[in-house]
Amino acid sequence: MHGERFGRMGFILASAGSAIGLGNIWKFPYMTGENGGGAFVVIYLLTITFIGLSLFLAEVVMGRLSRSDAVSAFEVLAPSHANLWKYSGFMIFTGMLILAFYTIVIGWIFKYIYISTFALPSSVKEAGASFGGMVTTETIPQIFFFTLAFALTFWIVSKGVKKGIEKVNVILMPLLIIILLVLFAYAMSLDGFSKAVTFLFSPDFSKVQSTSILAAVGHAFFTLSLGMGTIMAYAASMPKHENIVKASFMVAFLDTAVALTAGIVIFTFIFHFGAEPSQGPGLVFISLPPLFYQLGLMGNIISVLFFTALAFAGITSAVSIVEPTVMYMTNRFKMSRKKALITLGSIVYVFGILALMSNIETLKGYATFFGKGFFDILDFTSSSILLPLGGMVIAIFVGFVIDRTRLYGLLKPFMNDMLFKLWYFSIKYITPIGVFIVMVNKLFF
Ligand code: PFF
Repeated sequence: MHGERFGRMGFILASAGSAIGLGNIWKFPYMTGENGGGAFVVIYLLTITFIGLSLFLAEVVMGRLSRSDAVSAFEVLAPSHANLWKYSGFMIFTGMLILAFYTIVIGWIFKYIYISTFALPSSVKEAGASFGGMVTTETIPQIFFFTLAFALTFWIVSKGVKKGIEKVNVILMPLLIIILLVLFAYAMSLDGFSKAVTFLFSPDFSKVQSTSILAAVGHAFFTLSLGMGTIMAYAASMPKHENIVKASFMVAFLDTAVALTAGIVIFTFIFHFGAEPSQGPGLVFISLPPLFYQLGLMGNIISVLFFTALAFAGITSAVSIVEPTVMYMTNRFKMSRKKALITLGSIVYVFGILALMSNIETLKGYATFFGKGFFDILDFTSSSILLPLGGMVIAIFVGFVIDRTRLYGLLKPFMNDMLFKLWYFSIKYITPIGVFIVMVNKLFF
């Protein structure tokens, strides 16, 4: 059903490109800072291993067996009631919501590459005012940078799986890793380095609260791009003989390695200059720039590198958010890729502008619904409702609906019986129950 395939390493690179995003470099460090450090890291690693990895493999299995988009995958793989199961494919629409605010944040990052060169703030107070000012007052510049991020993302997807998505990942992912390693090497020379390592790797479980556990599970989900058919769509384009188990381990490993490296780099700067680790979402936009400022020209260079790495990570993830929906539209409605992208792009662009307006003080009234800004509505609906729901449906479908012997047949060449049993148990019970608990807690408590 689906034509174009990735080349060698294409799936691993593109999935790693999808997984490694703003979630790793922006979100993971600030969440760790807010949740007390090492103990949170341990919980995060456990959830990645027991929930994230299982679900990742489940999505790969669905994509690989069906060779199709999420809607058709449920339809093709359900032994009965296919016409009902196909509604589980609702997840391909989640991307439209995520993409709108994700590209706005990439737009901010573009602006920070520029700020890094000429206008680093000299104090945290100034940095806070400048970030807050950008988000709440600067309509036209934000629209400009959002449009840039949006156009770049759609342009890459328009080139196709191999010439667009794979090619961009082949170039940007190694560059991202190199930049991070350069920053890591520099961080090693600073006094804050050992403090950062201690902060991240010596757990103090007295600091853990139930909210930290919930946050870790939710993030394991977001960071591995699960619950919206992205990994499924990429797996549908996998070459025939690829070792799917090894590929899944590899992606989860790379994703975790980048999050930890980014964490060490960021906290080294924070501790080196005696700043606070628990700053919340403003950590990289507000706390880091004034610290870079203190390093003079070197700081400008480091800052440009840092925000460029963040932009690369964001772009390769944004691209992966578009692909499942485009794949669905071209498969289902026999649309050309171009027409699908124009239709989807128009919706995302309008959502993006509304989301952006909802943060602007003077325009808020036009983009507030049910007392909540559109930006927050998009973030909340996708991260707290649609992604976990998508993940739960996938786990239940793979665990209870697809025939076990079919799964075993596909996975046996790549894993021993013990590992298969462990995975099967996790996908049947641990994952759906874990995700359910997180969702209920996020929604009602
Ligand atoms: N995994 C990405 C990150 O950590 O930033 C975000 C993401 C990408 C979520 C693709 C969902 C998705 F389908």
